Amino acid sequence: MASPSRQPEPLTPLLERLAEARANTDALFARIAPEALYDRPIPERHRLIFYLGHLEAFDWNLLGHGAFALPPDNAAFDKLFAFGIDPVGGNLPTDVPADWPSERVVRRYVARVRERLDARLADAFAGAEPSREVAGGTLVHVAIEHRLMHSETLAYLLHQLPYNKKRGERTRFGRPIGLDKPRMVGVPEGEATLGLPRHRDGLPGHSDDAATPFGWDNEFNLTIARVPSFSIDAYPVTNGQFLEFVREGGYSDRRLWSDEAWAWKSEKGLQHPFLWSESRDGWTYRGMFEQYPLPLDAPAYVSHAEASAYARRAGKALPTEAQWHRAAYATRDGDEVEYPWGNEPPDQSRGNFDFKAWDAVPVTSHPFGASHFGVHDLLGNGWEWTSTIFAPLPGFEPFPFYRGYSADFFDGKHFVMKGGSPRTAACMLRRSFRNWFQPHYPYVYAKFRCVEE
Ligand SMILES: [Fe+2]
Repeated sequence: MASPSRQPEPLTPLLERLAEARANTDALFARIAPEALYDRPIPERHRLIFYLGHLEAFDWNLLGHGAFALPPDNAAFDKLFAFGIDPVGGNLPTDVPADWPSERVVRRYVARVRERLDARLADAFAGAEPSREVAGGTLVHVAIEHRLMHSETLAYLLHQLPYNKKRGERTRFGRPIGLDKPRMVGVPEGEATLGLPRHRDGLPGHSDDAATPFGWDNEFNLTIARVPSFSIDAYPVTNGQFLEFVREGGYSDRRLWSDEAWAWKSEKGLQHPFLWSESRDGWTYRGMFEQYPLPLDAPAYVSHAEASAYARRAGKALPTEAQWHRAAYATRDGDEVEYPWGNEPPDQSRGNFDFKAWDAVPVTSHPFGASHFGVHDLLGNGWEWTSTIFAPLPGFEPFPFYRGYSADFFDGKHFVMKGGSPRTAACMLRRSFRNWFQPHYPYVYAKFRCVEE
């Protein structure tokens, strides 16, 4: 719906969402044993203490220093905690725990940033001539979603911590509904709408559609793709199905792997998915808070390279981003819906997302989340790999206040993921949202399904 004279979003709900997002990441840090804050659970990433300071440094650099031009309180910390690491082809970080400030000092920084920022935001939203981006809410959306994305990637880090250094409860499944024989469903030729229409005033991060008021720079502009007919797996590939691939020698069949993937897999000595272990008693799965027997009905979490090898062996392929959109959002009468199940907002009956669980559940757990064509488990329970290399949509412009957010990753080395994981916030289940990762990163909660053209 076009809204030529769009009103600024009401401030209070947005500030409430910022407070909720803070409560979310605070609760996550509270699960980590204090001595583990200086651990580096994933060798390519920062120590956990970095992220404690980073969330506030980001908000401060964006809003406090950026939009409001406030004088710094702790310029050294604003810089120290400014940037994360993207582990493509880089050397591993070599800092030691003693390089980092104490938890007490970092927490004081966090509290101070919140205090100063909240006072200024309250003023801005009370109508005291805030900058246009702040008034429109774009920068606050950016702060909220940046934090919620970190809540998810922090979960990947937490996943790799030893069990005695974190606390939480294992995800309990309902009784799994048995998966009848894996099957594919046909999706007829038609159009897929990617991205969002840019608002006519050109305000970055805003769309013309009142129902989807915010998007990251890579979600613009709206693009229509024509997609020939294809068939797609009705459910994501399960651990049970992937186990057959493992048992039948998929990891040692050179023909299934690209040169790069083969070199990576050989160097790491991979013989099965990263979170699996084989013992005398059979296969087990490394869940977030407990090791348990491999859940055969849950989706297989694998890297893009492993997903691609599986698809090749089946004589199939990973879906393109546009095919995924067709399977998820298209209807038989040529319309498109906002979510696979229709236009109602996400709730717990539709999928495993929005922080309700720590691990994947059986792929048959959410029949009310199925798409018009009967494709299940699309949103939540694990992102889904596509074969599409992450690249700008036509008309892309980087956010002026965060130029590298997407553009730094348009390097031909990252693939688009769609859907969402158990640790993805509901606000990022919007149709235009695009996630991306490099193909050999084993820590991401990513599943896949195959297509046949
Ligand atoms: Fe960040």
